[in-house]
Amino acid sequence: MIHRLAEIKDIEPGIWYEFNLQTDEALISLMLLYQGDKYTAFKNFCPHQGRRMNYSLGKFLVTAEGNLVCPAHGAEFKPDDGLCINGPCLGQSLEPIHIQLNDDSVFAIIP
Ligand code: FES
Repeated sequence: MIHRLAEIKDIEPGIWYEFNLQTDEALISLMLLYQGDKYTAFKNFCPHQGRRMNYSLGKFLVTAEGNLVCPAHGAEFKPDDGLCINGPCLGQSLEPIHIQLNDDSVFAIIP
């Protein structure tokens, strides 16, 4: 299924955004980042204990190096591929979400 997330003009570079999508089966929360002319998205689901990665609505912890930090137990993830490089799920990864663009909008492809 394809879900429209936002207009391209509303996505600021370097900021993680939270989106919650209702599919036929479930409510799916995901995180989107636009950085270096690339959109990256992952399920908002930490591989350690399945907690959400935002600490409040649409707010995420990011290190000075730009890594995403799970607020539950501090796992640290690379923003480009979602690999955990520090913390209790070292070596595991966030689940990627495929992104498509058209002229003015960003879409998520949910399998
Ligand atoms: S649930 Fe994310 S580090 Fe534990």
